[in-house]
Amino acid sequence: MRKLKIISVVGARPQFIKAAPVCKALREHHEELLVHSGQHYDYAMSDVFFEQLGIPKPDFNLAVGSGSHARQTGEMMPMLEQLFEEQCPDVVLVYGDTNTTLAAGLAAAKLGISVVHVEAGLRSFNRSMPEEINRVVVDHVSDVLLCPTRASVVNLEAEGITQGVYLVGDVMLDTARFFAENIDSSATLDAFEVERDGYYFATVHRAGNSDSKANLGAIVEAFSQMDKPVLWAVHPRTRKNLEDFGLLEAVEAAETIHMIPPVSYLETVGLLRSATALLTDSGGMQKEAYFFGVPCITLREETEWVETVELGWNALVGADTNRILAAAASIQRPLSRPAVYGDGHAAEAIVAALEERYGGNR
Ligand code: UD1
Repeated sequence: MRKLKIISVVGARPQFIKAAPVCKALREHHEELLVHSGQHYDYAMSDVFFEQLGIPKPDFNLAVGSGSHARQTGEMMPMLEQLFEEQCPDVVLVYGDTNTTLAAGLAAAKLGISVVHVEAGLRSFNRSMPEEINRVVVDHVSDVLLCPTRASVVNLEAEGITQGVYLVGDVMLDTARFFAENIDSSATLDAFEVERDGYYFATVHRAGNSDSKANLGAIVEAFSQMDKPVLWAVHPRTRKNLEDFGLLEAVEAAETIHMIPPVSYLETVGLLRSATALLTDSGGMQKEAYFFGVPCITLREETEWVETVELGWNALVGADTNRILAAAASIQRPLSRPAVYGDGHAAEAIVAALEERYGGNR
């Protein structure tokens, strides 16, 4: 039996959610070291996810903190390079499309270490998004590309990537499936003083929206005219920009808007499941809304999760006040939700793919 030595690198909120089932599955038969880049560091953005989702304590924390893209990515790389050289892993495993993904993927590839990319092949076809650059680069230096959807496999094919590609399903569904049963929705609703189907749940954090006064202003305007309260879990960067753009007063004056700090995974799911609809520019939450049968209004012009739109569960409205309001006024709940994100066993499929590729078979 050959045990693989895997170094997994995480750093931002969505990566903790994805890592939870994968760490568990990997550690059943292989050796995993977990590295936290420190890209997210507040308790509410990081530690609470480790505690709730039972993610092992990171073996290393690079404490990189916030900064410009080049500084953040650049500071991580030499630390990762040194760690990879010292630890000599068989593979480095990265998730999604953040600066942490980019830094770890590049550092490993340059050392000739195989890169394994979970959530490969996603494309928004919008290169103004930092995440699009990160995912394109990482896919092109990856040895194993673990795709969540058929569309992501097709995207890779279109870029000439056909080797090492595995359709494994979406690991966020594994997490949702495993933890949803433990969530006491009524307690969460009571805690946030909302009623089932009596509110919209909202998140806004994309640079394109939160760093733009015009976009953030249009979103605030729409939220202030909604027909039900909008419970808005505000990312630290968005809160800061609301202040800097002079929009905080409008938010506080709006009767419909209820700002809350960033919420944990279990609170997020508890609030999402009972909402009339989700208003978001997050990628992962568009899918989570689909998993739980909640209509989504996406505050972007495009999505990587095209299935949610094609199946009628998601409307792309940009940061446009009128389109946001029109979408809220015509929310649909289609009759079917086919299993386009797999069966909730993606983590096992990932381990099987690694064993096939690297001969780690037991
Ligand atoms: C990052 C990812 C994005 C992902 C998101 C999930 C990149 C380019 N972006 O965006 O793909 O969807 O994480 O949330 O990697 N901040 C805090 N406390 C924290 C973390 C951040 O206050 O714990 C503030 C800082 O002011 C920081 C800003 O938020 O400058 C942005 O953080 P950063 O990690 O650069 O990007 P996100 O917007 O979180």
